[in-house]
Amino acid sequence: MANLKGRSFLTLKDFTPEEILYLVDLAADLKAKKKKGITGNSLKGKNIALIFEKPSTRTRCSFTIGCADEGGYAEYLSSDDIQLGHKESIEDTARVLGRMFDGIEYRGFKQETVEKLAKYSGVPVWNGLTDEYHPTQILADFLTLKEQFGTLKGLKLVFVGDGRNNMANSLMIGCAKVGVNFVILAPKSLWPQEELVELCGAYAKESGSTIEITEELDAVKGADAIYTDVWCSMGEEDKAAERIALLTPYQVNDALMAKTGKDSTVFLHCLPAVKGKEVTAELFEKHADVVFDEAENRMHTIKAVMVATLGNLE
Ligand code: CP
Ligand code: NVA
Repeated sequence: MANLKGRSFLTLKDFTPEEILYLVDLAADLKAKKKKGITGNSLKGKNIALIFEKPSTRTRCSFTIGCADEGGYAEYLSSDDIQLGHKESIEDTARVLGRMFDGIEYRGFKQETVEKLAKYSGVPVWNGLTDEYHPTQILADFLTLKEQFGTLKGLKLVFVGDGRNNMANSLMIGCAKVGVNFVILAPKSLWPQEELVELCGAYAKESGSTIEITEELDAVKGADAIYTDVWCSMGEEDKAAERIALLTPYQVNDALMAKTGKDSTVFLHCLPAVKGKEVTAELFEKHADVVFDEAENRMHTIKAVMVATLGNLE
């Protein structure tokens, strides 16, 4: 059993495949227990801060409910409520919060901020999304895939859309680590950074999987999962016209799904979705059950991260 006590969760780069799979399995266990009405006490006496510089439905609720289910207390702090990075440095805010809280979640812009919070607070810090990465989302995606296919290794997942956003980056890291064959299907101007692709290439070599970055729609052939995300991430709203022009040929619709050549392909979306843009409303509704399993799994997996890094596990 992996021991993650005291660790921060900033990017999947910091975790071994075994540790990632351990968190997914722990989440499955916590989910099964919750379905039977059994919640835990592993966060009893623990107080956690939830810092949100960007809006959130799933991530905020997952941390709040996950913490309450395990007997802890969560305090929501939006950037309007606290001085972080405005009147007070990140380092000083981190040291104050570290004296009062046992764990800190951060959602915002810079990856550097979540890393500074971890460095200076002295308590576990969890990345609830930055411009660069969204690592807790990947655990929910993996739990959902495991529920659908029973395994992760050897599956083929194709991410279609903005191939350089936080979701594409984190999926590439996660898939390469655990042995999912990963494809980014995107126009060349939205391909991920070469440096990250190379790093993930090394992870993939280790796990025996592959990474492909392509503009060709035929790359979805044989896919077990087609994944998409909004064309404009939070903070990029001014890029809407440019992205629509670039990404309209990459909409996930019936024609693209048919190109997989499989009936069993699942559709995944981290949500929120802009229907009519990255996915058609019709296709979304056909796959809604799995997409909302994925959304529910945010809670079980985020709970697992808190329990493993901060909780008193018997
Ligand atoms: N998927 C996700 O992170 O959703 P929220 O933005 O609602 O937290
Ligand atoms: N790429 C999206 C993910 C939302 C969960 C964003 O950053 O807005």
